[in-house]
Amino acid sequence: MTTPRRPLVAGNWKMNLRREEARHYCELLRKAPAPGAEVVLFPSFPLLSVVSEALTGSEVRWGGQDLHPEATGAHTGEVSALQLLDWQCTTVLCGHSERRRDQGESDELVAAKVATAQDHGLTPVLCVGETQDERDRGLTEATLQRQLEIALPADATAWVLAYEPVWAIGTGRSATPALAQEAHSFLRRTINDMAGAASASALRILYGGSVQSDNCEALLREPDIDGFLIGGASLDARHFLDIIQHCGSPA
Ligand code: PGA
Repeated sequence: MTTPRRPLVAGNWKMNLRREEARHYCELLRKAPAPGAEVVLFPSFPLLSVVSEALTGSEVRWGGQDLHPEATGAHTGEVSALQLLDWQCTTVLCGHSERRRDQGESDELVAAKVATAQDHGLTPVLCVGETQDERDRGLTEATLQRQLEIALPADATAWVLAYEPVWAIGTGRSATPALAQEAHSFLRRTINDMAGAASASALRILYGGSVQSDNCEALLREPDIDGFLIGGASLDARHFLDIIQHCGSPA
């Protein structure tokens, strides 16, 4: 028997939007009809106060785009789990491919961030995905397995996994539903082997990489795709709401 998994639609604003734009965006989200899917926003750190103020009391949740493995300390430019909690974050992205690429984040560092998130009661959204080169060389599964094995959280019941093939991020070249399903199914089987059947069937695995309102429904029909992590198409509130509506009406 499979566990019903509520779709999760997450907007990753990356280094976009300014204070007033974020406020306006949150107002539109607040006024929208109750979504069937769970909705989460990942604003950049300076916008967390705006988002938290505008969305407290709504069904939308929010989180950090990153965190430091330590709770406090001399780490200029970094943000801690405690600071995310101050702004009512419930979740945090760990190991987004742009950080792996731009900041050289290793699997071990990502694992430490996942552990810190869980230690503080934040739900880590662990991002994994192969580059075009890894796919071309037949290394997709080996890459995903390595990223997963190193960063698998201690509590395998309180996390979210995001499959984001690097070649599909921001390129307009989304994975086909069949290709995404193949990777998601591999990931779920791997979790099954590492953490057991109950954890594997309860885990939500999001797809990310050029998701739009015109491809989300077909992707979500695949049995192992449980929602999305959306960059570009989440920057416009109306477009994001459109995708949310495509992901289900209230139960
Ligand atoms: P994209 O980004 O939707 O713009 O491809 C997805 C992501 O990086 O999370």
